[in-house]
Amino acid sequence: MLIGARTRTVWLLGAPVVHSHSPRLHNAVYQHYGWDWVYLAAEVQQADLGLTLAGLKRLGFVGANITVPHKQVILEHLDEITPGALALGAVNTVAHREGRLIGHNTDGQGWLDSWDHHFGENLEGRRVVLLGAGGAARAVYQALLARRPGEIWVLNRTVERAEQMVKDLGGAGRPGALQSFASLLVPGAVVIQTTSAGLRGELPVEFPPSCPVDWVGCELSYGKPTPFLTEAAATGARTMDGLGMLIYQAGRAIEVWSGIRPEPELMWKAEGQS
Ligand code: ATR
Repeated sequence: MLIGARTRTVWLLGAPVVHSHSPRLHNAVYQHYGWDWVYLAAEVQQADLGLTLAGLKRLGFVGANITVPHKQVILEHLDEITPGALALGAVNTVAHREGRLIGHNTDGQGWLDSWDHHFGENLEGRRVVLLGAGGAARAVYQALLARRPGEIWVLNRTVERAEQMVKDLGGAGRPGALQSFASLLVPGAVVIQTTSAGLRGELPVEFPPSCPVDWVGCELSYGKPTPFLTEAAATGARTMDGLGMLIYQAGRAIEVWSGIRPEPELMWKAEGQS
């Protein structure tokens, strides 16, 4: 990569950012297409977000990805927000156009793209069970509605938060407690583990003594297999971790900035998978 006087920047803003795969992934794509862009990560505290964005605007940045913990608070610094991101109340992608900052959210679409890549199956009429009702679950729930699953259950440790999520985002989601997991595990079910228990190596639900074989277990974290994915695979389920969601939300963000949706193979290769 040759950085020159015309090179434009794209940023990851969050706290922390040092473990992010995004710079590697994005820079591989920019390099492949020969774009004079560079993707950098910066740890920014909430109090400095406004100042940071004003400075980046002055420097003519292309845009930014916003990560934890700023996906909600970033909204107040933007000039325009897409209807989907506004309904979600969260932005992960900012585009800088003619001095205006426009907020998008590509997380949910990233999950759908990952589903299509792994399984390519219709979700219409299926039973989907989301474990968790945090920010990540909200993005996936919103995107799933467009695929018209037969049922979407939202099971959360704090049931009121699941109820609030369904109320905020609409759709026919059914809130419940994590204890309902075992009874909802039927053949063909798609279960998506979004709680932060997975990151801490904990299992947020109890598996029933006998499980159907043909269900799908998904997890939004990636890297080390979580207890949920390990248990799911042990029952014979097909599984998918969060690497695809990371890759495809990046691809959709690149499309927002450039108008080009990068070839998936390129992004999988950048993540060491081909
Ligand atoms: P994110 O944006 O990554 O989804 P979040 O908004 O902090 O993170 O949400 C964390 C989710 O993990 C919530 O659904 C949380 O449940 P509560 O709403 O009851 O807090 C869930 N969670 C965290 N630790 C958990 C645990 N040990 N067992 C089950 N659920 C847990």
